[in-house]
Amino acid sequence: MRLPARGATALVSIFATAQAASRAVATLPITDAGDAAAIPAWDVQSTAKITQDPAALSKAGFVLTTSTSWHHASVSRCTVMGCLLAAGVYNDSDLFYSENLATIDKTQFKVPWLYRSEFTLPAPHSNTNTTGAGSTHYLLETNGITSRADIYLNGHQVADKVTQSGAYGGHVYDVTAAVITGGSLSNNSNSSGNAIVVRAYPTNYLQDFGVGFVDWNPYPPDNGTGVWRDITVRQTGSVAIEAFRVTTNGTAGPVTVQATVRNLEKAATVSVLAEAVVSRDDGSATVSSTLPTTIQLAPGQATQVSLAVNVASPAVWWPRQWGEQPLYRAQLKVSTSSSITSASSLSDTATRSFGFRQVTATVSAADDILFSINGRPFQVLGGGYTSDMFLRWDAARFEAHALYTLDMGLNTIRLEGKMEQPELYAIADRLGLMVLPGWECCDKWEAWSYNDDLPAPTAIWSDADYATANASMRHEAAMQQSHPSILGFLVGSDYWPDDRATAIYQDALAAAGWQAPVVASAAKTGYSKALGPGGMKMPGPYDWVPPNYWYDITDAASVTDDARYGAAFGFGSEQGAGGGTPTLSSLQRFLSVTDLEDLWKAPNKGLYHMSTAASSFHNRSIFNTALWQRYGAPTSLDDYLLKTQMADYEATRAMFEGFTANWGKQGAVSTDFSSTARPATGVVYWMLNGAWPALHWALFDYYLHPAGAYYGVQAAVGRSENVVYDYVRRSVVLVNRSLNQTGVRTVRAELISAADGKVLANVTTDTKEKTLTTTPNSGRTVLSSIPGITTLTDVGLLRLTLLDGNVYSGKVISRNVYWLPAGGHVDTLNWDASSWYDTPVSTYTSLKSLSTLPVANVSVAVSQKEVNNSTSWEVHLENNSPTPAVFISLNLVDSASHDVVPVVWSDNYVTLFPHEALTVTVRALGPALGMAGSTEGAAVQVIGRNVAKATVNLK
Ligand SMILES: *[C@@H]1O[C@H](CO)[C@@H](O)[C@H](O)[C@H]1NC(C)=O
Ligand SMILES: *[C@@H]1O[C@H](CO)[C@@H](O)[C@H](O)[C@H]1NC(C)=O
Ligand SMILES: *[C@@H]1O[C@H](CO)[C@@H](O)[C@H](O)[C@H]1NC(C)=O
Ligand SMILES: *[C@@H]1O[C@H](CO)[C@@H](O)[C@H](O)[C@H]1NC(C)=O
Repeated sequence: MRLPARGATALVSIFATAQAASRAVATLPITDAGDAAAIPAWDVQSTAKITQDPAALSKAGFVLTTSTSWHHASVSRCTVMGCLLAAGVYNDSDLFYSENLATIDKTQFKVPWLYRSEFTLPAPHSNTNTTGAGSTHYLLETNGITSRADIYLNGHQVADKVTQSGAYGGHVYDVTAAVITGGSLSNNSNSSGNAIVVRAYPTNYLQDFGVGFVDWNPYPPDNGTGVWRDITVRQTGSVAIEAFRVTTNGTAGPVTVQATVRNLEKAATVSVLAEAVVSRDDGSATVSSTLPTTIQLAPGQATQVSLAVNVASPAVWWPRQWGEQPLYRAQLKVSTSSSITSASSLSDTATRSFGFRQVTATVSAADDILFSINGRPFQVLGGGYTSDMFLRWDAARFEAHALYTLDMGLNTIRLEGKMEQPELYAIADRLGLMVLPGWECCDKWEAWSYNDDLPAPTAIWSDADYATANASMRHEAAMQQSHPSILGFLVGSDYWPDDRATAIYQDALAAAGWQAPVVASAAKTGYSKALGPGGMKMPGPYDWVPPNYWYDITDAASVTDDARYGAAFGFGSEQGAGGGTPTLSSLQRFLSVTDLEDLWKAPNKGLYHMSTAASSFHNRSIFNTALWQRYGAPTSLDDYLLKTQMADYEATRAMFEGFTANWGKQGAVSTDFSSTARPATGVVYWMLNGAWPALHWALFDYYLHPAGAYYGVQAAVGRSENVVYDYVRRSVVLVNRSLNQTGVRTVRAELISAADGKVLANVTTDTKEKTLTTTPNSGRTVLSSIPGITTLTDVGLLRLTLLDGNVYSGKVISRNVYWLPAGGHVDTLNWDASSWYDTPVSTYTSLKSLSTLPVANVSVAVSQKEVNNSTSWEVHLENNSPTPAVFISLNLVDSASHDVVPVVWSDNYVTLFPHEALTVTVRALGPALGMAGSTEGAAVQVIGRNVAKATVNLK
């Protein structure tokens, strides 16, 4: 069923008839000091519907008779739209279909919404004492409520919207005087449970600190308003731990465990003991350290404690491409009695996970940043990550995103104001994925007077806004600080924070024990004196550019190459060729028949599933013009979609290969980074994923189906050693992204005519360079030319193979096939006409003859393979023809022919030379991730540019 276009009136009636299944009630499992639990469910309703005073509403049992008109969301955190989706008022397959989202009445979100929940707290164990030292306290902890909120508990106001402000403003409130313990919830108004009410105020991205989407996609109708992160109740004794932090001495010991400890008592002085315990994350190898003396704390007094714990020969944490991810755990315990080991005297405890790793950064004289991890120069290859449009968090879904990122060979995700939930960092730590968080551009977060790009009428920061920014930075820094996956923090994106904000951010980060680099901004617009230049560039492109774009710089890349914008030098913080068109199976889930026709019949039309209408990326003109010129006008939707996949593959591969090729080639990359050479130190593809089903800016689609853009990246960086074609120099570069893979290699370059398979060149480094050895963490030219390319009369196919050892016995490390136009020509770029998002092409090359290749006969056989208890399959492909089989896509489907997602293929969209055989493997990720409804697949669908469609059953 699809939502027909309808107005506000009809939607209001959905609200009126949606019955809440049950009231949000729960017993929080909190009985001992240090225990904490999130409010697990919410009833939500608009203040336009509920007229009672929120203080009165925050009494257990109060609204029982009217509770049926509230929407019940069985989740601990949800924006208003997220809650309404969880409550079944909306469903996203309808919302995301065609232009339905635009029909949602936004005025309903212009007023505050109420969140309400009831909960009981069991009577606390043992050390209950309401009259002084040893007493039990309860803390209510927020982690950000958008845009701001008043909070009420059992008739008392706990916080107001001035303090509780900002999507990332986390605060701790002592609610001991307000809570009721030992009660039970019952269906009468004399209930002895607790009731909490949160009045969440509407969000305007230009006036409030929200989680926005800039020009990426249409905004959620509620602008992300609400309790999007947990609200937690925590029990402590008289003394509570605050600002808990764990730091290492680089990759060595000792571990320093620090916190503020506060006496929550109003009248009693307490003596405090503290102990820090460090172990591996499985609890083994425990080491501890205790404060030598007790500390006396007067009522309300707080002090810093710092404990050093010596861990002998710690196991070092590496990003996935370089090694293992050993994790440790640090626990701090504070007690108010004479014995720290007595459980009954425990007053508070806090635990965090950490790893031994060191990230440093250097900014060169040319203003390029170089990150190093554990002393090794680290080329950042990343993607810009976005939350779901409704900020819904699903750990398995995020893990699939992380596994996809690593499977492509990328090593980093950038979070531009999308700091998500604490679980994200734990998953990244475990998988070895680096995370580069930071604040978002183009709205309230960067509302300083010198920001020339702010949309009107953005409110410049007031004193209260600086306070919100401070609370936000303190909260995020505390959440992220010990995670080894953290690569740094970008305190600005397109602009840099002013001096006052910079000081606030730096103080907050330092107080949280921040140990990774802090970068002024992701662009070269400016910087505060305190932080200095950030070394990142943001000159685009954000839309299609030809593959030679990245390579079109001088050989010894120098400062003057700035006129080459996003080309492969320096650190590109967000850029790419824009693509990421989903495949038909995904498109059909969110586009109508007319929308699908528009894709290929109206190539310049503004489309709802692109960026917003106000954006430069609302239509597909730049991409489509190039596609029509280079691949030929599409003859059908299928033909268009196949061409988009080829264009996307070609574009993403070229960008990442260009950066890896120019990592070592432009001068040695070392942590001493002072020369004027400008190696490619990093690039973040814009973007990794979409907040909703989008037609561009994603390496895989919203339904997690990977296609051309994904496999282009995988071909570029999916293997730690690769051979790369430099489109501008027509040379071959050997890339080694490992830390310690060395030895003899052979590179072979073979060129054939696409139309008839005729061999035009076959060159190997075996004959050219007798002992080619590979150098870790480098890129270097190994074949300066390939005969036959400049004399190509029409499209040629170039296969580059990297062999471990010699050409006769060497095992294939990587193979990479390029389709090249006549003469090996490249598209002519008009650099001088570049805009912030594009460099126009003045003359296009032609790849049109790829559409008229003779049909190739490819046989497909499948065999089962067991790896780590999860089923994987080997798919054996063989081209039985004397001509090539071009761009063969392989798709794992279930018994109903639906895409199996998430899925990993060792290779895909492959091009086979005449009579070439290739085996690839495939595995469904869903079952291991416990994803609902996931299967291991039943068949593989095969189709290629010149290969007929076939389906091969797995069993
Ligand atoms: C309760 O508090 C009083 C007053 O501070 C103290 O004397 C007593 O020892 C405490 N009882 C326990 C069980 O901690
Ligand atoms: C969302 O924020 C935008 C500004 O970015 C504002 O124009 C719009 O009115 C807001 N929507 C709601 C429902 O408040
Ligand atoms: C930190 O580690 C270095 C070796 O990397 C060592 O020289 C230094 O003494 C250590 N610092 C402390 C406080 O132990
Ligand atoms: C290569 O480096 C990794 C990560 O540091 C290490 O675990 C591995 O033992 C090294 N291998 C060799 C052969 O040095």
